[in-house]
Amino acid sequence: MTGTEEAVIGLNWGLNIMDRLNSSPRLMLVSDLDHTMVDHHDPENSSLFRFNALWEAHYRQDSLLVFSTGRSPTLYKQLRKEKPMITPDIAIMSVGTEITYGKSMVPDDGWVQFLNYKWDKNIVIEETSKFPELKHQAETEQRPHKVSFYVQKDKAQSVTQALSKVLEGRGLDVKIIYSGGIDLDVLPKGAGKGQALAYLLKKFETEGKPPLNTLACGDSGNDAELFSIPGVYGVMVSNAQEELLQWHSQNAKDNPKILHASERCASGIIQAIGHFKLGPNLSPRDVSDIGREGSSPGLEIVNTGLLLEKWRRAEIENTELFIAGLKATVLPSGVCIHPSGADYSLEEYINMFRKVYGDQQGKQFRTWVDDVLATQLGSDAWLMKFRKWELCGEERKGCYVTSILSKKDSDWFTLVHLHQTWMEHSGQDEWFL
Ligand code: GLC
Ligand code: MG
Repeated sequence: MTGTEEAVIGLNWGLNIMDRLNSSPRLMLVSDLDHTMVDHHDPENSSLFRFNALWEAHYRQDSLLVFSTGRSPTLYKQLRKEKPMITPDIAIMSVGTEITYGKSMVPDDGWVQFLNYKWDKNIVIEETSKFPELKHQAETEQRPHKVSFYVQKDKAQSVTQALSKVLEGRGLDVKIIYSGGIDLDVLPKGAGKGQALAYLLKKFETEGKPPLNTLACGDSGNDAELFSIPGVYGVMVSNAQEELLQWHSQNAKDNPKILHASERCASGIIQAIGHFKLGPNLSPRDVSDIGREGSSPGLEIVNTGLLLEKWRRAEIENTELFIAGLKATVLPSGVCIHPSGADYSLEEYINMFRKVYGDQQGKQFRTWVDDVLATQLGSDAWLMKFRKWELCGEERKGCYVTSILSKKDSDWFTLVHLHQTWMEHSGQDEWFL
């Protein structure tokens, strides 16, 4: 039995991924964060917002979202506060040395044990201190199975070679990865983003639920391994780093399953979904005329949020017809509980929309929904559970939402109940809708 198999057998998902997926995930999307999912050169985060809407509308219910980042849990959580990101099912952090499940980030202890093989952090620290070219990264980025430095591009190769030799001589089995033309990570040989992905795929297989398709997305050196896992589709976003493109031309040039996208970051991911025909690739944000006949409860929730955003940004016309259209999609006597605790009828709730038309015009106002999950209650009713966010400039407000949608007497969904609760540490606003 190999170490990986042993770790797999001790499995502890730590959450209900398996409860949600009653069969194989349709798509397992594994994405790097910095300069792949998140475009640090786009202050409006437009490609991220496009991706979020696509995922929540068409994939959340039966697919798996995995973020795979070089960041430690500390810097990962910081990024989540800075950028409008949705919540992944699985987070792989610290360059594939830490795996956690779900919103509450339950660690995979089996993976940690597996990484101890031929690894001794103290020896790594002792030996690397003899290389003056290596500059220590911040303390938060030094992890139990990851020791990280900065090193100049022209020194990277020689340092890597010399260090490998020394550590091997001390009985360790390590992997040294150079990323972003600056970062050098020393990890156990069995670690890394690719190994972590292989481990997860094995786990799903053990459960009899291997993903139907897997798409890996990246931009830099530490992502290269993701593209060498057998059977996996890959996209290098248009803005990929030289070291990744070089790896590709030397190792995977003829692999038709790897695409170098012509679009940046999350837009490149959407492009790859279309290119490889992995499922819907039209983001609800790219649809100018939002129809009322949403084909799924998830799409309905995403579209309703987008309508409200457009209304407040004055991107749709202020007409009584619009209000009447909204009223036609709610049960007038249904209940709306505002996050402040006040309650209204759904008819009153819709009436409140008149007051906020255009109140965010010309501002950096965006909304998004996260973790939209539907539970079917009967042949024509769904209990929806999700989180809803508003971003205005730097300020964020968020609430937990549960609602009931029904499709009883019409072709479209009717909202029959809405209950919202402020998220802790969130800004609050009586005009939050
Ligand atoms: C992230 C981590 C850093 C690592 C780099 C490349 O920036 O914070 O420690 O070296 O990714 O993997
Ligand atoms: Mg990156």
